[in-house]
Amino acid sequence: MKALLINGSPRTNGCTFTVLTELKNTLEKEGIDAEIIHVGHKDIHGCTAYRKCAQTSKCVFDDIVNEVAPKFAEADAFVIGAPVYYASPAGGAISFLDILFFSTSKIDKTMKVGAAVVTCRRGGNIVIPGSKNVDHIKDNFDIFDFELTQNEMKEISAINRNKTYYTATPEVLKQYAEMVPPVDEQK
Ligand SMILES: Cc1cc2nc3c(=O)[nH]c(=O)nc-3n(C[C@H](O)[C@H](O)[C@H](O)COP(=O)(O)O)c2cc1C
Repeated sequence: MKALLINGSPRTNGCTFTVLTELKNTLEKEGIDAEIIHVGHKDIHGCTAYRKCAQTSKCVFDDIVNEVAPKFAEADAFVIGAPVYYASPAGGAISFLDILFFSTSKIDKTMKVGAAVVTCRRGGNIVIPGSKNVDHIKDNFDIFDFELTQNEMKEISAINRNKTYYTATPEVLKQYAEMVPPVDEQK
């Protein structure tokens, strides 16, 4: 068994790496090979939906994603690690995943195990005080301490109109099929 652990943080020795190292050690104790690969500090191009990868199974931007893809194909388990940046995974981690998954659509991912680890400083995950200011630390705890009133629950229920906007009727499917230009015409 082989697990591929991706560090999507630009900091190769930071908190995300620390968590991934804990995970690697635990997996190895269980007899599972584990490799950590740093990708977050590399230049990773965002996906441009160029779609050449549908023909070549490689991204036209020949960066770390193309290097990792064969290891991803072989791995039994895949873990993405990322720090929270502005309430979202760090950009490099997202670009990495977008292109990895888009360019490996022909790789059979059946039964591959997937997991994610995130690290953050404040509201992005759990309460780990990154401050010495007691009021600030209390604020961090308090973001989870709320209850919705009956009225607020009613307002939320009212938003649900039980209406589906996109239905796969033959007309809609045809429209969608016509929306995608042939691969070779894409710039
Ligand atoms: C640009 C930037 C944005 C961040 N945004 C958030 C955030 O929205 N919420 C949060 O809890 N932490 C945020 N953080 C803190 C990081 O998530 C936190 O320090 C993380 O543990 C860093 O991981 P690393 O050591 O692997 O780089 C941000 C850090 C940076 C550099």
